[in-house]
Amino acid sequence: MKRLELFPAGTTIQEDVLTIADIPLTSLAREYGTPLYVYDRATLDLKLGEYQSALAAHYPAPAAITYAGKAFLCTAIARWARARGLNVDCTGEGEIVIARAAGLPREQLLVHGVNKSTDDLNSALQNAGTIVVDNLTELKRIHVILSEAKNPHLAKRDSSAATLPQSDISLWLRLLPGLAVTTHHAHTQTGQLDSKFGMTREEIREAVSFCRENGLPLNGLHFHQGSNFRDPEPLIPAIELALDMAGEIGFGGEWHFCPGGGWGIAYHEDELPNPSIEGYVRGISEAVVEGCRSRGLALPHLHLEPGRSLIAQAGVAIYRVGAVKKRGDRTWLLIDGGMADNPRHAMYSARYSCLPVESPDRSMRVKTSIGGPFCESGDVLIEELLMPEVQVGEWIAIPVSGAYHLSMASNYNGARRPAVLWLEQRNAKEILARETVYDLLKRDSSF
Ligand SMILES: Cc1ncc(COP(=O)(O)O)c(C=O)c1O
Repeated sequence: MKRLELFPAGTTIQEDVLTIADIPLTSLAREYGTPLYVYDRATLDLKLGEYQSALAAHYPAPAAITYAGKAFLCTAIARWARARGLNVDCTGEGEIVIARAAGLPREQLLVHGVNKSTDDLNSALQNAGTIVVDNLTELKRIHVILSEAKNPHLAKRDSSAATLPQSDISLWLRLLPGLAVTTHHAHTQTGQLDSKFGMTREEIREAVSFCRENGLPLNGLHFHQGSNFRDPEPLIPAIELALDMAGEIGFGGEWHFCPGGGWGIAYHEDELPNPSIEGYVRGISEAVVEGCRSRGLALPHLHLEPGRSLIAQAGVAIYRVGAVKKRGDRTWLLIDGGMADNPRHAMYSARYSCLPVESPDRSMRVKTSIGGPFCESGDVLIEELLMPEVQVGEWIAIPVSGAYHLSMASNYNGARRPAVLWLEQRNAKEILARETVYDLLKRDSSF
């Protein structure tokens, strides 16, 4: 695949400048400074359209897309999700607050988390339609909060249970399938036997009994095997296992099933192109339809939970080259951002590609590494990519930067998180302001 194809849909080179949504990136870098992140709405809509039409074509019962907010969440993204009728998966109170600030209705909000605190659970019960229960301790905690809400005289003085709305919450149980998908790094796998996520079959059975004994509103099953996988094969035995569990549980009536997210994308031109969303959705749909038919189960409401495959390609990171160093046959471009806004290479050796913003068509002859300004040898975004002879002062653009960069960003070395722009029909709107030195001091209680 060509390097330009990694960029958002409709990226062009106009007057020798990389241009997204008909806006030259030079004008954005000049106006907003760097590092700068841009998100292209048209690409988000395109990816969502692929999911929606595949579900409509292949799944004959109600189905929904839940955007995995952990990939990147701010109120503009949550508003986009709300406008498109998506649900949003929030991990904990912080993301719940962002989604609700965007006006996301309770029934469109689902809460995940591997060790939800009491505050997370209170916030979930106040603001969400669904909680995906990770473990038995959490389930028992939910029961205590709900009992206190029904019987306020039982509540401890500092409990917020009395303020809980009495409307329905759905509880789904997170199954640990014990089957890994192939991802590019062990840290992006979650479904394997020794994973910290979810419940074993025995624990699920115990959780179901606990829900039944205590009248808890259990109506769904969930699993998630990992992130950035391309081979849907391991999904099928996990779906079979989940349907066996569903048969055992006997939901009786409407029930919900979510085989998670994690569908992969291409980050580098030497990978195969983006795997087909349609093929992924078709594979899941067929397995669920056939699996339910053979077990005599009613078709569930099917939920898919993509993050990366929806949003990663919509995002581009723009940096300025501040210094160039030659080291043997390697050329270092030292840029003004790095592991503080994108820790993915440092965390799991993620690979990226890159183009200069101006004259991106120059011949690529120089073996280039791209490093950031932070005091870590691991502060590297790209190793060994052929680039043109890039000069100090040039801007470069890294595609496929929309997922798990800013949501995992830090203030390491006093870094200030970059500004974020939303690009739409020749219009750029700032959706997150660049952090300032004042933000760094805001939490400093002795300042
Ligand atoms: C429970 C759950 N659902 C969905 C996702 C989204 O994964 P991806 O962004 O790879 O689609 C994740 C990611 O870790 C997750 O943990």
